Amino acid sequence: MAEKETILKVEGMYKSFGMTKALKNAHIQLFRGEVHGLIGENGSGKSTLSSIVAGIQDCDEGTMEFKGQPYKPKDIFDAEEKGIAMVGQEQNTLEDTSVAENIFIGKEGRFLTGPIVSSRKMNAAAEKILSSLGLDKIRPEGRIGGYDFEQRKLVEIARALCDEPELLIIDETSTALSKYGREILYANINRLRDDNRAVLFISHDIQEIMTVCDCVTILRDGDIIRTIEKKDYDEHVMKQLMVGREVDEDYYRTDYDPRLTDEVALRADHIYTELLKDISLELHYGEILGIGGLTDCGMHELGQVLFGLQKPIAGEVKTGDGTLIRNSTVSLNKKIAYISKNRDKESLMIASTILENICLPSYNKIRKGFYISNSAERQFAEKCAEVLSVKMDNIRQNVMYLSGGNKQKVAVAKWLGTEADIYIFDCPTRGIDVGVQSDIYDLLEDLRKQKKAILMISEELPELIGMSDRILIMKDGKMAPPIDRSPDVTETTLIDYMI
Ligand SMILES: Nc1ncnc2c1ncn2[C@@H]1O[C@H](COP(=O)(O)OP(=O)(O)OP(=O)(O)O)[C@@H](O)[C@H]1O
Ligand SMILES: [Mg+2]
Repeated sequence: MAEKETILKVEGMYKSFGMTKALKNAHIQLFRGEVHGLIGENGSGKSTLSSIVAGIQDCDEGTMEFKGQPYKPKDIFDAEEKGIAMVGQEQNTLEDTSVAENIFIGKEGRFLTGPIVSSRKMNAAAEKILSSLGLDKIRPEGRIGGYDFEQRKLVEIARALCDEPELLIIDETSTALSKYGREILYANINRLRDDNRAVLFISHDIQEIMTVCDCVTILRDGDIIRTIEKKDYDEHVMKQLMVGREVDEDYYRTDYDPRLTDEVALRADHIYTELLKDISLELHYGEILGIGGLTDCGMHELGQVLFGLQKPIAGEVKTGDGTLIRNSTVSLNKKIAYISKNRDKESLMIASTILENICLPSYNKIRKGFYISNSAERQFAEKCAEVLSVKMDNIRQNVMYLSGGNKQKVAVAKWLGTEADIYIFDCPTRGIDVGVQSDIYDLLEDLRKQKKAILMISEELPELIGMSDRILIMKDGKMAPPIDRSPDVTETTLIDYMI
């Protein structure tokens, strides 16, 4: 076999944020023609490492070599020019600009006609890239704000691919994509590999890592633990190396008991929106009702309608006692909690502290009369953060600086203290590592045992099967008849309804 050719070498890399040592002597070597996976628990340093390579931030110490030359990008544009592009973990498009402008931020100079940037030329170039990716529904001149979460991520992918990078970095992107979007992503990853370029691929889905990557490096607490070649993959060993201890693989419920009550908590009657077509459902206290389907089947929109964030064109949502859910203020008053899939924009106040995020929905409980004591606030927030092992410096740290998965934990934690009665969770374990996923499942089970009503929207079939009392599968805005919890339900049962 021919000798492998190194494309990127990182050595002795350190990075700290205050007391947090995000990288400790990290090293990694990537080869041409390979897709290299990077896995590790939430906060282990994956995004930090990859964003340094992509020129988004500097390291404190360490050296990098790219294509045999010393490499130290000044910024993201410099890195892109040298051949390294990255699709980041969080949403990273600019609200008030067009799709084409997003694709070509920092590259406007290419479209100058005299001193003026020609939108016509820029749109034509964007159109070419979008259509080469099969994204004809996304219009170059369209405002980015008019596109949904997944489409925006696809625009970011188009941006990263527009100059055919030699090294493409994908940070936890698949969870934002539907099957269709993932296929586009995988096809391009394979194309780059076949073209003797390289890909660094980050994901919490070990199955996906094992399928997509030729080798995988494991990070734990900022340390590189080991790199494993495809032929030596072993899911159990990989998980164990990530968390540094034996992991319990039986996360899900083991019972097949009937649901705990027949009392209706929330009822949707013949809901229509642009996407949803005649959706009716009843959520009961003491049950976990799973809603599944492909990303674009309408299930995320249904979550918003149920919480009152989106008004249906026809039909209504009511609580069991007959209160009409007109808007989210009514929902909060009726003790309904909601976690959106789009955590940065809809579930968190990203520029506020962990404490503020966690305490906000619970001030009625924390306050004594008109008085809110600092220590009561702190204790309350610390307790909620501890339940989900949020990795942080301190409770007054800004949420913006947490790792992706730790943000997700805060988004979940803030509802734990509220003692809501009805929970609408849209992809509760998105971006959460294997160690903490089981904590979230335990929590869902606890809520169920307390006879709370839980509606769980999920794209993960094992999670739906493992946790739900009933499962409703959606397809093209319509809903299939309920599937009751039973040992006989398999992924194939669900897929048959999905496609
Ligand atoms: N700008 C920042 N300021 C302060 N702390 C930061 C900053 N960026 C990262 N950190 C901290 O560095 C550590 C590593 O974070 P990083 O985002 O690299 O983790 P990750 O492995 O990508 O996790 P996840 O799986 O949750 O995305 C975390 O403890 C995080 O809180
Ligand atoms: Mg990350």
